[in-house]
Amino acid sequence: PPEAGSGPAAVLVGAPGAGKSTVGMALAQRLGVAFRDTDADVEATLGMSVSDVFLEHGEEYFRAAERTAVLVALGEHAGVLALGGGAVLDAEVRAALARHWVVYLDVSASDAARRVGLARDRPLLVEGPRTRLAALLKARRPLYEEVAAITVDTGALGVEDVVAEILVER
Ligand code: S3P
Repeated sequence: PPEAGSGPAAVLVGAPGAGKSTVGMALAQRLGVAFRDTDADVEATLGMSVSDVFLEHGEEYFRAAERTAVLVALGEHAGVLALGGGAVLDAEVRAALARHWVVYLDVSASDAARRVGLARDRPLLVEGPRTRLAALLKARRPLYEEVAAITVDTGALGVEDVVAEILVER
C-alpha cells in the first residue's frame, strides 16, 4: 500500500473492457479522492480524441504522448489513476510503476468484448473485438502481471465487489 504523498492511491491497469474506468470511479468515490484517466489526459493535451490521434498520427505517436501523460500523472495525482490498456507496453512506464501500488483488472476476451461493444470507440479493435482482445491479452498479460501488486478478476464480479476486493488488499 502506498504512503501518503507518494503518488496515486491506486493505479489501475488492464485491457480495454476490463472495467478500469468504472471500477476506478467507484473506488475513487469510496476513498473520497479524485479519479483520473491517462486517455483523457492525452486527449486534453493533444486536443483530439484517442481515435483521431491513432488515425492522424499513428500508434507510435500516441504511445509517446501516453508515456508522458502517465509519467506526469504518476508524479502529481494523489487519487485513483487508470492507465490506457497499452501503457504497460512501454518499458519506461513499467519501470516507473515499480514505485506505485498497481492493481491489474483481469478479464476474459469474451467478457471484454461484450463490454467494449457497449462503450466508446476503440481504434485498435475495429475488426473483431473478441479476436483482437484475445491476442492483446495473450501478449500483455505478462506485462500487466509484472507491474501489478494484486490481480482482481473482474469477469464474475460486479463493480462493488471488485472495489471491495481492492480495498481489502490495500
Ligand atoms: C489502448 C487502450 C485504450 C486507449 C487506446 C489504446 C490499448 O484505452 O489508450 O485506444 O492499446 O489497449 P482503454 O484501455 O481505456 O480502452
